Amino acid sequence: MQSRVGALEESKDPGGSILKTSHVRALPLRLIQFLLMFVVLGLGVSILSMHTIRYFGVQHLAPTEPSDVRSCFVEPNTLESWIRPPSSLLHSMNDTELLWLASCVPQVKEYPFKRTPKIAFMFLTKGPLPMEPLWERFFKGHEGLYSIYVHSLPSYSPNFSSSSVFYKRQIPSKLAEWGEMNMCEAERRLLANALLDISNEWFVLLSESCIPLSNLSIVYHYLSKSRYSFMGSFDEIGPYGRGRYNEHMAPLVNLSNWRKGSQWFEINRILAHKIVQDTTYYPIFRDFCKPACYVDEHYFQTMLTIETPHLLANRTLTYVDWSRGGAHPATFGKGDITEEFLKKITTSENCLYNNQPTTLCFLFARKFAPSALEPLLELASKVFGY
Ligand SMILES: *[C@@H]1O[C@H](CO)[C@@H](O)[C@H](O)[C@H]1NC(C)=O
Ligand SMILES: *[C@@H]1O[C@H](CO)[C@@H](O)[C@H](O)[C@H]1NC(C)=O
Ligand SMILES: *[C@@H]1O[C@H](CO)[C@@H](O)[C@H](O)[C@H]1NC(C)=O
Ligand SMILES: *[C@@H]1O[C@H](CO)[C@@H](O)[C@H](O)[C@H]1NC(C)=O
Ligand SMILES: *[C@@H]1O[C@H](CO)[C@@H](O)[C@H](O)[C@H]1NC(C)=O
Repeated sequence: MQSRVGALEESKDPGGSILKTSHVRALPLRLIQFLLMFVVLGLGVSILSMHTIRYFGVQHLAPTEPSDVRSCFVEPNTLESWIRPPSSLLHSMNDTELLWLASCVPQVKEYPFKRTPKIAFMFLTKGPLPMEPLWERFFKGHEGLYSIYVHSLPSYSPNFSSSSVFYKRQIPSKLAEWGEMNMCEAERRLLANALLDISNEWFVLLSESCIPLSNLSIVYHYLSKSRYSFMGSFDEIGPYGRGRYNEHMAPLVNLSNWRKGSQWFEINRILAHKIVQDTTYYPIFRDFCKPACYVDEHYFQTMLTIETPHLLANRTLTYVDWSRGGAHPATFGKGDITEEFLKKITTSENCLYNNQPTTLCFLFARKFAPSALEPLLELASKVFGY
């Protein structure tokens, strides 16, 4: 660099002599000198900066380079972005694809991130949810502890307002008929969609005529501290129990394995996975349990009793009144709703919770007619604590 500056000084002298001889030619020469000076100065500066980069900059730039490259050319791809629940519940997977995806289970038991386990409330409905205002009140203030899924008849298009907890919680649905296999398929569809959210740990199946009998704090505590899942499962002697068994189901399902129980269940993630991944019992129940064998009262109950009997409480959490007789349980309307009645259904039974006797046996109840909503809203805070 020094030598180049020296060369400039040398060339200056002959130029200077020419400057004296002609005034006209001197101007462009001076311009050339100026330009030359700038070129050489510029060259000097660039060489200097190249050296600076080589000696100081390289160590300084090296660590940041890979991340710069990454942020320019690759999408940010953290674990967080892989496990985040889908932003929309609408998807174009068919049932085969959905059940396959939902059957994926992490093999490492410890989560490498903070996971707050949630309750998935799964509503299996025909159309509207008349008890919506009661549920809204039940969920209020408990964000992060629950998620909601609604399966309704495909012909129904819901119109929940954007402030509702049910807004955009509909999953792609198909026809579901009472006592038919497509009812169990709808339940599997609900479970599969809910399993896609890795934070869902407990799965509650409800209908449009169900109401909650305790506040969400109580429900959360009850489910999270239970050693067992609440699938109703019993061996009933007689035409409506064992009478529905078909011997073509043997040897995978024998009469001694045959169980009956309420359709309305609460199960944990382990059992939810068992149900969505089942290809063993599904064809047997589809082919040999048709009305008057009501498959939603036998399929999961029998299958889980064979596979994981030690995880079942064998009772349901959903109160229902069969005392009036007939094929359908009692429906409660406006006239039935009194404080005494609600106290009766919340405390009159005895059952086991983690092998200890308790009177808190039911967290939900059915069936309630739309006319029951108003008196229920009035009594909810006093009787149910929400
Ligand atoms: C779902 O799609 C896959 C791939 O196209 C196909 O193999 C499968 O049979 C489909 N299942 C149903 C139930 O339509
Ligand atoms: C939804 O539609 C029903 C009638 O179809 C109407 O009574 C109800 O007010 C609507 N709800 C909302 C939130 O728009
Ligand atoms: C049903 O009975 C057969 C013959 O006794 C036995 O091999 C099979 O394991 C039984 N199935 C179940 C699920 O217990
Ligand atoms: C539920 O029933 C199964 C057999 O049907 C039994 O093994 C299990 O211990 C029962 N659960 C409880 C909590 O008693
Ligand atoms: C939930 O209900 C219980 C019993 O009724 C009550 O003690 C508790 O304060 C309620 N919790 C909330 C958050 O309202």
